[in-house]
Amino acid sequence: MLYFLLFCALLRLTDGLNVTSHRFRIQKHTKLTSGVTKIRDVSRRDMTILVCAAQCGSEDQCNMFDFNERQNSCTLFSQTIFDPGVLRSPSPEYHLGFRIDFDNITSAGWTLVFKAHKLINSSVYNAWTNSDQVHDHPLLPGFPFECLSLGYVDTSCAGNQHFRSLILNEWRHTDVDRVWFSLKTGSTQVAFIEFDGLGSDRDTWFTESRVLNSTWGPYLSSVQHMGISGYFTSATARRFNVFGPLTGCVDEWLYTTVVDQMQDECNNQWDLPTGTGFPVFLYSRSGKASTSRASVHTYDLAQAADALEVWIKLFD
Ligand SMILES: *[C@@H]1O[C@H](CO)[C@@H](O)[C@H](O)[C@H]1NC(C)=O
Ligand SMILES: *[C@@H]1O[C@H](CO)[C@@H](O)[C@H](O)[C@H]1NC(C)=O
Ligand SMILES: *[C@@H]1O[C@H](CO)[C@@H](O)[C@H](O)[C@H]1NC(C)=O
Ligand SMILES: *[C@@H]1O[C@H](CO)[C@@H](O)[C@H](O)[C@H]1NC(C)=O
Repeated sequence: MLYFLLFCALLRLTDGLNVTSHRFRIQKHTKLTSGVTKIRDVSRRDMTILVCAAQCGSEDQCNMFDFNERQNSCTLFSQTIFDPGVLRSPSPEYHLGFRIDFDNITSAGWTLVFKAHKLINSSVYNAWTNSDQVHDHPLLPGFPFECLSLGYVDTSCAGNQHFRSLILNEWRHTDVDRVWFSLKTGSTQVAFIEFDGLGSDRDTWFTESRVLNSTWGPYLSSVQHMGISGYFTSATARRFNVFGPLTGCVDEWLYTTVVDQMQDECNNQWDLPTGTGFPVFLYSRSGKASTSRASVHTYDLAQAADALEVWIKLFD
């Protein structure tokens, strides 16, 4: 895919368009196909992609545009590139422009502080704890936006990094009210836990006493291992772990866990998609989930999700 950045701040456009320091990235030969709301078409005789970008940049509610180079037409849209439901596809005569001058990613009053992707062979826990890795405030132009889409997991994100917000470094100095832990498959949330974030720090909110609600209700029963650092030995790394007793691999059960390295001491005994790439985001569809078909329990087998997101809500 061909990209280039437009820095509109230095553009001097002849007829006084109000161009401030908005930045856009252009994805060439790409068109928006669904999930967008048109603000309006802009028609001018001398329309160019720069004029189109300037037009979008000067309107607060405009976050994307597409420019048709054959018809010299420009259409403005309100969604952001990361909004769920926004889909793009290749199209020879269209170029897509999207705003990248956001400080952070927000949706309905929540701010995204972390997004991890399955099977990219990069540790979720290392990314979570690595304070040198920061991708927002403002969003980094170099960060692959495919990896930030809340709508779907694009395969072009594979091999790239997990998204990590500056807010993780400043958690203690941020007025965190609630924390939302979410597992996604495509754009669909398949499991969540909502936590009370008051007075927490980066590594302490993920605990049973702070659970407000979840896919499995407000109370998680008989959990024995819960935590972000989770259960780890030289042979195992289960992070963001909500797990029952360690009764031997086949009879174990879980609400959710991240298998965060290739190796898990139970890979050979579990009937789960582990051992061929990591991270693997495991969760239960309802109640507890088994790790093996040979389990003494009658729970359903755990499922695997595509992505893990952590959102925070600040005090009003
Ligand atoms: C240009 O935009 C800025 C910020 O939106 C606004 O304050 C200013 O009044 C605008 N100027 C003109 C000439 O429209
Ligand atoms: C995210 O950015 C917006 C706009 O700059 C800001 O108002 C908001 O406080 C930021 N949220 C957090 C949690 O930093
Ligand atoms: C992750 O590692 C496994 C095993 O070495 C390999 O098969 C897989 O292709 C790797 N995935 C990526 C995205 O590099
Ligand atoms: C708790 O989550 C469930 C979905 O699992 C939802 O239906 C319910 O409204 C939530 N309850 C509260 C108090 O937020």
